[in-house]
Amino acid sequence: MKANEFKQRRELLMEQIGKDNIAIIASATMRTRNRDVDYPFRQDSDFYYLTGFNEANALAAFIPGREKGEYILFCQEYDEKKALWEGAHAGLEGATREYGADDSFPITDLGDILPGLLENKHKVFYPMGRDPELDHNLMEWITHIRSQTRSGVNAPGELVSLEHTVHEMRLIKSDAEIELMQTALDATAKAHIRAMKNCQAGRYEYQIEGDIVHEFFNNGLRAVAYPSIVAGGTNACVLHYVENKSVLNDGDLLLIDAGAECDHYAADITRTFPVNGKFSTEQALLYQLVLDSQYAALAEISPNNAWNKAHDASVLVLTTGLVKLGLLTGNIEQLIEDESYKAFYMHRIGHWLGMDVHDVGDYKIDDEWRVLEAGMVLTVEPGLYIPADCMTVDKKWRGIGIRIEDDILVTKQGHEILSKAIPKTIAEIEAVMEG
Ligand code: GLY
Ligand code: MN
Ligand code: MN
Repeated sequence: MKANEFKQRRELLMEQIGKDNIAIIASATMRTRNRDVDYPFRQDSDFYYLTGFNEANALAAFIPGREKGEYILFCQEYDEKKALWEGAHAGLEGATREYGADDSFPITDLGDILPGLLENKHKVFYPMGRDPELDHNLMEWITHIRSQTRSGVNAPGELVSLEHTVHEMRLIKSDAEIELMQTALDATAKAHIRAMKNCQAGRYEYQIEGDIVHEFFNNGLRAVAYPSIVAGGTNACVLHYVENKSVLNDGDLLLIDAGAECDHYAADITRTFPVNGKFSTEQALLYQLVLDSQYAALAEISPNNAWNKAHDASVLVLTTGLVKLGLLTGNIEQLIEDESYKAFYMHRIGHWLGMDVHDVGDYKIDDEWRVLEAGMVLTVEPGLYIPADCMTVDKKWRGIGIRIEDDILVTKQGHEILSKAIPKTIAEIEAVMEG
């Protein structure tokens, strides 16, 4: 991502915050995994979106109209010893020279400098409740300023959620953001294809997970966007199964929900295929039904269409198909109204996708489902999960779990399937697996 794009985002944010106000946002913190070992650092998405700065112990302040500089970055000072042990970091000079801050200060001076920046501001835009220590300090600083009002300074009177403003910006993706998502998806496509090719009865779910991560790393992407779900047989009916430790059995399906992350942007893809490379009759019938429901949902993805239309389309196709196959009985409209389909399709059609796998942005505005706009990216991921102990259906259906998930860009003309390179039809999957 070019520095100029971060700059444009900051300018847009400051325009929205308005003069006499201030916005502050902290970086993510390093977390200890166990003695002297940290979890891999992942920057806070909002912070990164506005700064491109990938270090912990940092805080950005945006002060529209401030003559001495509108963008201030507090960060760690450059430390040769730290550089030797832990590697490169920007330091105060790097913060201004490389990251475009108008001014930079040591993060250790935050308590001395930030209170002064809050004086005489009306509103503080701030992501409340994310960092209890900062929440506490901010209240103390504001209370302190309030105690000084006799000397002519005013304390901010309003705390406003910063998230809403930033998240509305993040919801519409730029060309550069789409490019990063496409890079994540290209590696993810290779990973799913590798998994299909290497799948065999007797291998373990974690071995297939290894194949997936191999492709991510091999393509330069060292982060998964979320823990991979590699679920053979009935494990696929556990929606967030991440144990990935069972053996794969001949005759079962394998559901893989896995995506790479590229420069903080996620891919989120699910494919389901037979362990032995050939769908059984029942598996093929249910798979085709899920695929048809996905096609129906995709047909509703275009600008000015409300977000829920895709979901409703998937519910109609799935419920109709379940009745036809005998897994549900009754009147289709009634089954939809009383949500009987939820016994087998219990999640919604998808979610926004971006820096976070379940990305930010409102789904409803004034209690109405939001209308899609060009530049939004979302997943379309219908599924059917027939629990192994479901006594209301014929035995032959039990324990089958299927989800098909693609990542979709809303375009002016309709939509583009960013993950179209990944085999999806029964014929395509069987051909890839046959080699
Ligand atoms: N991988 C998480 C999801 O599909 O929502
Ligand atoms: Mn997924
Ligand atoms: Mn998803």
